[in-house]
Amino acid sequence: MGNKIGTVGIIGLGRMGRCMVKGLIQAGTLKNTEIFFTTKHPETAALVAKELSVKACKNNLELIEKSEIIVVAVKPQNCAEVLEEIGGKITKGKTVVSIVASISTEQIEGKLPKGVAVIRAMPNTPAFVGAGMTAWCAGVSAFEKDWSRAMALFEPLGKVARVDEKHMNAVTGLSGCGPAYIYVVLESLTDAGIKIGLPRELATLLAGQTVLGAASMLLATGRHPAALKDEVTTPAGCTIDGLLELEEGRLRVTLIKAVVQATKRAKALAKQVKV
Ligand SMILES: NC(=O)c1ccc[n+]([C@@H]2O[C@H](COP(=O)([O-])OP(=O)(O)OC[C@H]3O[C@@H](n4cnc5c(N)ncnc54)[C@H](OP(=O)(O)O)[C@@H]3O)[C@@H](O)[C@H]2O)c1
Repeated sequence: MGNKIGTVGIIGLGRMGRCMVKGLIQAGTLKNTEIFFTTKHPETAALVAKELSVKACKNNLELIEKSEIIVVAVKPQNCAEVLEEIGGKITKGKTVVSIVASISTEQIEGKLPKGVAVIRAMPNTPAFVGAGMTAWCAGVSAFEKDWSRAMALFEPLGKVARVDEKHMNAVTGLSGCGPAYIYVVLESLTDAGIKIGLPRELATLLAGQTVLGAASMLLATGRHPAALKDEVTTPAGCTIDGLLELEEGRLRVTLIKAVVQATKRAKALAKQVKV
């Protein structure tokens, strides 16, 4: 074992799983040879294996045999079939990490032999560039060695925060889905630049670095966003005119409703999907 995690098997190397793998290889946490994966369809597996130079297993049973840490990264709707297939075969000493939205540690534990460690995590796609946010919680049989094993997988991908499991759906609605909301903001700011005559490349740079800078200020200073906003807003200046438009367009309420709706959807999925 050339790293402190061991071999990692990812069941369902789709959009999120690929961001994790890219981030982990980029960070030097894992070598391509230490990562195994499966997908549902062999043709997807062939494409992913070529794209990431990682090894596809012929099925989920082969994957769990080869891996010390098993990441379940399928859609909630596919979780039952996966747990059904691997559930009885996973041995104690392996760590199961689920990034599946809406499915609780208790539901997963219910399909595994007693005592198998389960960590539930909700990462996000900026893991791809080491700027991800992962919130996580632990199942009843997961202890410190399992947490640190799982965190060795997420810490190189950005920031991590341990949360109570009751918050995981809200995390999904905020940071799990959040990059999509911010891409809409970024697209709109870039379009605004185009509208006022800036070249696209410059508008994209100005929008991207401004969002990155504002977020970095918030996290580095720990100050309230309203105080940081006030610093940009001089009396009878330009910013207050822009802010007035945002208020009229109900940006705040719209963003709040976006997070609330996504959280509701995560909760509804938890009820709909049978595991
Ligand atoms: N996307 C995000 O931003 C994000 C962020 C945080 C968490 N998540 C969570 O991560 C999970 C995956 O999301 P995603 O966006 O990556 O979905 P996705 O792109 O649809 O990927 C799902 C993957 O699961 C595979 N799969 C389905 N059934 C399988 C089975 N029985 N055995 C092995 N592989 C199987 C699919 O294979 P095929 O391609 O062959 O069908 C695909 O590779 C979801 O639970 C989601 O809530 C996603």
